[in-house]
Amino acid sequence: MKNMDWTQLSFKYSKTNTVLTCLYKDGKWGPVQSQTPDSINLTVFSPSLHYGMSCFEGLKAFRGVDGKVRIFRPDENARRMQSSAGFLGIPCPDEELFQRMCIQAVQENIDFLPPYDLRAALYIRPILITTLPSINLVPQQDGIMFMVITLPVGSYAGTVLDPIKTVIARDYDRAAPNGSGSVKVGGNYACAMNATGVAVKQGYKDVLFLNPETKNIDEFSSANFFGIKGNIYVTPCAKTILPSITNKSLRQVAQDLGMVVERRDVAVEELSTFNEVGQCGTAVVITPVSLIDDKVALGADKVAASYSYPTECGARSLELYNTLTGIQYGEIEDKHGWCTIL
Ligand SMILES: Cc1ncc(COP(=O)(O)O)c(C=O)c1O
Repeated sequence: MKNMDWTQLSFKYSKTNTVLTCLYKDGKWGPVQSQTPDSINLTVFSPSLHYGMSCFEGLKAFRGVDGKVRIFRPDENARRMQSSAGFLGIPCPDEELFQRMCIQAVQENIDFLPPYDLRAALYIRPILITTLPSINLVPQQDGIMFMVITLPVGSYAGTVLDPIKTVIARDYDRAAPNGSGSVKVGGNYACAMNATGVAVKQGYKDVLFLNPETKNIDEFSSANFFGIKGNIYVTPCAKTILPSITNKSLRQVAQDLGMVVERRDVAVEELSTFNEVGQCGTAVVITPVSLIDDKVALGADKVAASYSYPTECGARSLELYNTLTGIQYGEIEDKHGWCTIL
């Protein structure tokens, strides 16, 4: 393990040992290359730079209580990347190559996997881009590059389980009704990033986007939404929402804990009926939400409505968090076989 100052761990760039690349050329994936510099040589005519022809994934490796290294549900990320690449119309690595490169990336960067007692992780970021020079709006079928990069991460929000303040953006949409909301393509984040920046300047941690058609709750800029009502775990369902692997896991965990799971439309007015609200995702894990302001215009001072929740993580959210992370750190039996042990 590297002699690092692990106490500074948050969710930001740091240099690790190696990055992996693999090129799809002449109809097949070539050898996996490992390199130390984290820069690549890319033509300025790459459609990934101009047209957002890129997709990516995010997953984590954990050092368990038993010293073993676990990667959480890489098969799910492999399949979601296939759906993202399918949406873009470009070739994608199969599950075997995807998982093999994730495992190799963790092994080569194992120095950067934080110790168990920090309850941190090594974040794995698989990326798919196009590398041939072109100015045409036709998806490339050759010269596709698959890369896997890693970085040690702590809490996304700052401190673990500290509730955050968020705001509904009524004058920004993250996804179009028949657009790319349900896949993990770069353009989605270009859409959401400025809104998040405006919100952060006003003291919020994140933006809650509404469905562009129904104006029901969709999701946060990089996490799904869930609400707890008594014994019920409620989460929105729409084709504009990214199907979160954390949310999928939490729905199972909630059921295992005897809760009722509802995946359905959630109207903004229903926000006043939840006992607890949270974000869920690989980066945020579970991050409780203490406030949702509803603003007609994100930049405006006027708040049309406000929804408040406990200023400490609620009991149900905590139970879900402890169970999910318990499985990831090898403390709780992985009865659904979610973890790949290295
Ligand atoms: C828009 C969006 N929604 C939800 C999530 C959570 O998905 P997952 O739990 O698979 O990380 C992410 C993060 O990947 C995201 O970017």
